[in-house]
Amino acid sequence: MKASVLIVDDEPGVRAALAGVLRDEGYEVDAVDSGEAGLDRLTRAAYDVILLDIWLPGIDGLTTLQRMRDRQVDAPVVMISGHGNIESAVKAIKIGAFDFVEKPLSLEKTVLVVSNALRQQRLEVENRALRARVDQDLKMVGEGYAMSQLREQVAMAAPTNGRVLISGGNGTGKELVARSIHALSRRRGGPFVEVNCAAIPEELIESELFGHVRGAFTGAVSDRRGKFELADGGTIFLDEIGDMSLKTQAKVLRALQEQIVEPVGGAARIRVDTRVLAATNKDLTEEIKAGRFREDLYFRLNVIPIFVPPLRDRQEDIPLLSEHFMRLFAREYGRRFKSLDPSAAAVLAHYGWPGNVRELRNVIERLMIMVPGEVITAQDLAFLGGGVRPAPAEAVEEIRQLHDARDAFERDYILKALARQQGNISRTAEALGVERSNLYRKMRALGIAAPRGSERDEDGG
Ligand SMILES: Nc1ncnc2c1ncn2[C@@H]1O[C@H](COP(=O)(O)OP(=O)(O)OP(=O)(O)O)[C@@H](O)[C@H]1O
Ligand SMILES: [Mg+2]
Repeated sequence: MKASVLIVDDEPGVRAALAGVLRDEGYEVDAVDSGEAGLDRLTRAAYDVILLDIWLPGIDGLTTLQRMRDRQVDAPVVMISGHGNIESAVKAIKIGAFDFVEKPLSLEKTVLVVSNALRQQRLEVENRALRARVDQDLKMVGEGYAMSQLREQVAMAAPTNGRVLISGGNGTGKELVARSIHALSRRRGGPFVEVNCAAIPEELIESELFGHVRGAFTGAVSDRRGKFELADGGTIFLDEIGDMSLKTQAKVLRALQEQIVEPVGGAARIRVDTRVLAATNKDLTEEIKAGRFREDLYFRLNVIPIFVPPLRDRQEDIPLLSEHFMRLFAREYGRRFKSLDPSAAAVLAHYGWPGNVRELRNVIERLMIMVPGEVITAQDLAFLGGGVRPAPAEAVEEIRQLHDARDAFERDYILKALARQQGNISRTAEALGVERSNLYRKMRALGIAAPRGSERDEDGG
């Protein structure tokens, strides 16, 4: 697929020179002579990069840029700045232009900036979801049997280009498996594009997957590329595929059979080279029996099946995973690494983990924020409550005694500190070296009533 560039410049010489050199570089190029004409073009076609002159007759470059932003044109814009109006160029960058080039133009430099913009844009598309969660690294942690099997399956599937259907419960790590497969494949340099089939409203999913042409439906103000096309040369990850409607399933099946997508409302047939990975937390064979999932699509997708087991079946990995997440959140929140004492480790090992690895991650995050000291104890995990499966009786007894002793000690200690500070919570917290909110929490857990008249303003939880 050729990338497309729109040039907006009133000087015919500049348009001709730029269009020529960019076409030589393999771009599809359109050129217009005013901001108005540029905006008009953008309602009819999608471009990958826009070159926009600052000095224009009619509405100037900055206004044109602003209108593009208002219309949510998300192609990167490179400003062409006349000699001596660097200030406007800087302003343009502030409104969201990608970069600027100066007249008289160096064609070589301009080509370079365009290709940078394009690369940046691709990264952007690919990473939009990812960047929000900077911690999303691709390490599959776990040394137990289940994890080593899983790693082996991922390594075998990755280089083949085959379709993979990843199944497993909520939060088991299906997306991580998909990302790992992409990262270990020959397509790793291409985009990884995720589509959450459950999160997109039924009436938009086809457009999301296959794109649409302007006017295809209300709100389709310009052409839009679908995710299959955006994933060209890379991988598309169809998450929660079990939630896709039968109608959309039929279209996806066609796209898989023919490697061709048809944007909604258009006549074009676009050939794409996209590897398909899918995931589901449903039992698709059940869905097929119930008439909610197409059997033919299931067979197409399930070329390489990978099952991610629930966390309770790989208990041996819990300590490693906990450490992994602690390191992650210690970095993210700038806190010191904490350790789990044996009582806490026992609670984590015996808990049922209905939310699997994601739940463990959330639990660790919570502990890293809430626990003031450097050691996490079973007491800090009391919020896991009823989900804890019974530990062996002796272990429970030991833990209970240890807890009781610790609680009694802490209670006494805090009460004395409070007395020394005449019940002033802020000063007590300071004296004990903990956050005020932590002290409140601790007191509540230990059954110490807050002294009357103590300020309870910003104490949230
Ligand atoms: N083996 C693992 N090692 C390290 N982190 C993991 C592992 N498995 C899962 N995670 C982390 O746990 C979280 C949940 O994993 P992921 O999103 O891949 O699960 P999922 O099965 O797609 O979940 P859902 O069903 O909710 O979509 C992510 O932050 C992921 O990075
Ligand atoms: Mg997922």
